[in-house]
Amino acid sequence: MINFKELASTYKTPLYIYDLNYMTKQYEELKEAFKGRKSLMAYAIKSNSNLSIIKHFADLGSGADCVSIGEVRRAFLAGIPSYKIIFSGVGKSDDEIREAIQKDILYINVESEAELGRVELIAKELGATCRISIRVNPNIDPLTHPYISTGLHDNKFGVEIDTAKRMYIRANNSEHLDPVGIHFHIGSQLTELKPIYESAEIVADMVRSLQNIKIELKFFDIGGGLGVKYKDEVTIKPYDYAQAILGTLKGLDLTVVCEPGRFLTANAGYFLTKVLYEKQNGAKRFVVVDGGMNDLLRPSLYKAYHKIEAISQSRTDESKADVVGPVCESGDFFAKDCLLPILEHNDLLVVHSAGAYGFGMGSNYNTRGRSAEVALKDGVARLIRRREEFEDLVALEKEFLVK
Ligand code: LLP
Repeated sequence: MINFKELASTYKTPLYIYDLNYMTKQYEELKEAFKGRKSLMAYAIKSNSNLSIIKHFADLGSGADCVSIGEVRRAFLAGIPSYKIIFSGVGKSDDEIREAIQKDILYINVESEAELGRVELIAKELGATCRISIRVNPNIDPLTHPYISTGLHDNKFGVEIDTAKRMYIRANNSEHLDPVGIHFHIGSQLTELKPIYESAEIVADMVRSLQNIKIELKFFDIGGGLGVKYKDEVTIKPYDYAQAILGTLKGLDLTVVCEPGRFLTANAGYFLTKVLYEKQNGAKRFVVVDGGMNDLLRPSLYKAYHKIEAISQSRTDESKADVVGPVCESGDFFAKDCLLPILEHNDLLVVHSAGAYGFGMGSNYNTRGRSAEVALKDGVARLIRRREEFEDLVALEKEFLVK
């Protein structure tokens, strides 16, 4: 049991809290599911990029899936070895590509023919050979929220099979490119196995057709995407997930690379916020709290559901309320029509499943400092990021203040 009251009194609110033991459990379960096959878990840093969280996964043996050179640098800082780092993303700049090649990471996931050309040119300038993988867009509907769907031709990610084939041939003939892997990632918060299986099959067939033209790959990168339970979702079991994928790889000697984010971090995280006021506008009841959409954007952006639990002495009947923050936007809410007792000033609300895409999607909108982050390990709490103060927020502007 997490003592939220004590954490609130020690670290103040709003506050992110992460249970490292839970992250370990999730990591081990997923890794175990792929046993019997060479595999690399490459933690998707974007889901929670706090250095201590990355370090925690590094200590478990994880690699990192990164989507910017900033994330690559974080991975290095947290102690992930270069040979376990992958760099994906549709829009890598020349500088980012250059640094990734210089850092000799495992491979760059290339997402277009134009990008392949840049990578080749930059590797040539550096007198290097860059290991690459190509992100294939299998044109499969992942059956998830449209904003986090990535495997359809309508989405900006990856390249079609035919384009990928051309790119592999080009890479294979280049002195400066070494095609070592193939990648797909069809979306996030996936709760259906069929689209994953179908995509894996398409991509595995592509590996076989490349073998026929003497292009031998080593890594089969299945992306991330495993869904988690926010409310009443029936989720895919890691064992079934692994079996579905491994079933498509018969006869292929490939290392499976998995890029889990949400599965490892979402339900390890809690966002703790304090009640400021109760208010009623006509028939509508609002509970105003000290955290806002700048801290946790998912409800506003995706209408995402996050369970909210009240920590209060209140014995009143529960009634429906919108839980809203102080940000100057009507979209600033954590829940609509959430059943809660009448709350007092300083009562606490725990927003569950906040460990993935929570803090990282935060902002300083309305000149609000980002909350502190705390990690719990074996029942012991440690601050892993201090609260942002006003001085932090203006630091990059002050010296440029127009006279
Ligand atoms: N690999 C690639 C190439 C990705 O694009 C992503 C997520 C992952 C791995 C990790 O996916 P996961 O295992 O976490 O599903 N902000 C959204 C989620 C965006 C996901 C972007 N890509 C949200 O809050 O739901």
